[in-house]
Amino acid sequence: MLVFNTKRDLKEHLDKLRSQGKRIGLVTTMGALHEGHLSLMKFTKEDSDVLVCSIFVNPTQFNNDDDLLKYPRPIEQDISLLEKIDCDVLFLPNVEEMYSEPEQWHIDLDGMDTILEGAFRPGHFQGVTQIVKKLFDAVEPHFASFGQKDYQQYVVIAKMVELFNLPVELKLCPTVREPNGLAMSSRNVRLTDNGKKQALALSAALRSVSEKVRGGAEFYSKLKQEAISFLENADGVELEYFEICDRETLQPVDRPQNDIKLVALVAAWVEGVRLIDNMFIDQPD
Ligand code: PAF
Repeated sequence: MLVFNTKRDLKEHLDKLRSQGKRIGLVTTMGALHEGHLSLMKFTKEDSDVLVCSIFVNPTQFNNDDDLLKYPRPIEQDISLLEKIDCDVLFLPNVEEMYSEPEQWHIDLDGMDTILEGAFRPGHFQGVTQIVKKLFDAVEPHFASFGQKDYQQYVVIAKMVELFNLPVELKLCPTVREPNGLAMSSRNVRLTDNGKKQALALSAALRSVSEKVRGGAEFYSKLKQEAISFLENADGVELEYFEICDRETLQPVDRPQNDIKLVALVAAWVEGVRLIDNMFIDQPD
């Protein structure tokens, strides 16, 4: 695996491969890689000639200094995991490389950056789109894969791609879960075994809503309230939001509508760690 720290060296290498007609697939990460990332990379590798992974803990998407400071950075371990899965290129820039000059960034994300995650993390999606645009410019991938666990992030990045008319295809890969249902996340390393058990309430609430919708429930706002009460009473869980939304617009949906595809989304704190999860829900035909 080749490791590049500068955009210039990366570009020189990738330009050569591009001119040989190689298809480049990108997985952007903030490191602390886990099975979820690795499955994203395996999926990306299958469809590309060159797998590029980026590791960059992006300061502009954190609205809490403590969260940024505590973000895990096990870089040696990450590199050996990437080597094991035969990643071709690692882009590992520092903050100065990505933010060499002071700059303003604000794009119109149709309000999708201020709801759900955006309501609790103001500015987060502006920071995400800012860095993803920079990474797309640096790598110029044919396609980039994102995990469903950060579903709103995927929707917002798709909006940014549309806005700038970027020549990159986006792929969404399913969330990887522990056998007990816990969604894999870099933040899980900060949970004790007991915290991991408590965090299961999130996937349990999502599953229960999904089953009730598939079972023909008529009032989604009632299901949402039931999920909220369940989570508010769950040991060790401090709920931020639970919503049942249209998968495209991320607007809440109250009643069955056959032309709409649903996603249920949740965010909560467990042992001082902020966790998110979501599930796609099929409505009965
Ligand atoms: O999902 C992440 O790890 C980050 O938000 C991303 C997309 C790498 C941007 O920093």
